Amino acid sequence: MSKETEVDYGPLAALIGVWEGDKGMDIAPEPDGTEENPYYETIIYTEGGDLKNANSQVLSVVHYRQIVKRKSDDGIFHDQTGYWMWDAREKVIIQSIVIPRAVCVLAGQQYIEKKDDAGNLIIEVEAAEDNADWGIVQSPYMQKNARTTSFKHRIVVGNGKMTYSETTMLDIYGRVFEHTDDNELELKL
Ligand code: HEM
Repeated sequence: MSKETEVDYGPLAALIGVWEGDKGMDIAPEPDGTEENPYYETIIYTEGGDLKNANSQVLSVVHYRQIVKRKSDDGIFHDQTGYWMWDAREKVIIQSIVIPRAVCVLAGQQYIEKKDDAGNLIIEVEAAEDNADWGIVQSPYMQKNARTTSFKHRIVVGNGKMTYSETTMLDIYGRVFEHTDDNELELKL
């Protein structure tokens, strides 16, 4: 990987740093209904430099680690890691997601610069099990019992603030469940 100072992170540059937020709301499935979990979290985005694939594609890379705690008992109830990647030449943005439920997601999207009315950057990626480009890999148990069928992630970032919303569609307990997570974070470092 090349020296971090020379790297063009594109829209990912806005993410780099340590973020904290305590306005999280998780809507998760229960066998007999829905669980609502207010939460707080830290997300650390770290510069990872850039690299070349097959001698031609250049990706700049930001590693992230997300630790989410329930407000009710301060216990960690979601631990996620992965990379954000930016292909400056093709204008493609990619997020790889690993969660310790034996589920991995590779979400991506052609990037078109979008800003909200306040000038904040909007970053969006998505994946689905029937999407040939951006897909989901999950264990046999999860495929059978708690299958992730699609994933959408939207981040709005700027002026030291970030909001995100994630929608993970699940096939669980014999029904389709919209598992959502939203939070607002502030840049701390
Ligand atoms: C802030 C982010 C997230 C939080 C706080 C969170 C939290 C939760 C909670 C509390 C459950 C219910 C678990 C239980 O009752 O045992 C759950 C279920 C699940 N989550 Fe998430 N989740 C998040 C993001 C994600 C993402 C990004 C994915 C995958 C792309 C995902 C996949 C799943 C799956 C497959 C289940 C079903 C497992 C089960 O309930 O047995 N979650 N999540």
